[in-house]
Amino acid sequence: MTQLELSGITVRFGGHTALNNVDITVSTGSITGLIGPNGAGKTTLFNVTNGLLRPNEGTLKFGDADMTALSPYRRAKLGLGRTFQRLELFPSLTVRENVQVAAEIRGEWSSGSNNSANIKKNVDRALEITNLRDSGSKNVSEIPTGKARLVELARSLVQEPKLLLLDEPASGQNDNETSEFADILRSLNKEGMSIFLVEHDMSLVMNVCDKIFVLDFGSLIAEGTTAEIQGNPVVIDAYLGGKSG
Ligand SMILES: Nc1ncnc2c1ncn2[C@@H]1O[C@H](COP(=O)(O)OP(=O)(O)OP(=O)(O)O)[C@@H](O)[C@H]1O
Ligand SMILES: [Mg+2]
Repeated sequence: MTQLELSGITVRFGGHTALNNVDITVSTGSITGLIGPNGAGKTTLFNVTNGLLRPNEGTLKFGDADMTALSPYRRAKLGLGRTFQRLELFPSLTVRENVQVAAEIRGEWSSGSNNSANIKKNVDRALEITNLRDSGSKNVSEIPTGKARLVELARSLVQEPKLLLLDEPASGQNDNETSEFADILRSLNKEGMSIFLVEHDMSLVMNVCDKIFVLDFGSLIAEGTTAEIQGNPVVIDAYLGGKSG
């Protein structure tokens, strides 16, 4: 079943076409990848998907709902979560406080879940899933980038997304941290969360994704399974040729 459907998405920045008539669908329960060279338009596509940016052309559906005109807040309420390529954390707050801020915002969406016991439960659960239990009292400025990526993930989890957009979550992580991250993604997916992943780390992409879309200069150049993408000469030429993994 299709959970997210982007149709004919075009985005222009002045004279530059960042996305050119892009069609992408993400199936319910899938881990879908989006790859491509720097500047291909991946983050722009995420900005269009969560509503930070309005496309010049095209429509977006989430489940049965047309969300083309909805604000980012309304999209989040529908179940669309996201993390950012440039970490959007509060460096002077602790790990737990960073997650708690997001949980308090989530609590305000639905009556009954904004009391302190519920918020604490939600924060504890997100810290547990992301293996951050023992780092809760550390300031975010004191932890390595690889761990900060997990804090960013925990912040998105307290909003209980049905579909989570992850923009380069392994950036700044070492191999062990990326492998731990892959395990977390698989277990979230097993529990029913769909994941839409932008990533340059091909070992992570090829390990976890069911399906992959490839962007190049704002246009979709391929889509398929990991095996199909790895064997696609157009993709190898545009992107994978210069990548290991
Ligand atoms: N707000 C903006 N104003 C003008 N141009 C922009 C803006 N945002 C992105 N662009 C341009 O649009 C193109 C796509 O950028 P985008 O950030 O989506 O690429 P990306 O695929 O995420 O790249 P990376 O892998 O480096 O993160 C680039 O040429 C970029 O310079
Ligand atoms: Mg980007």
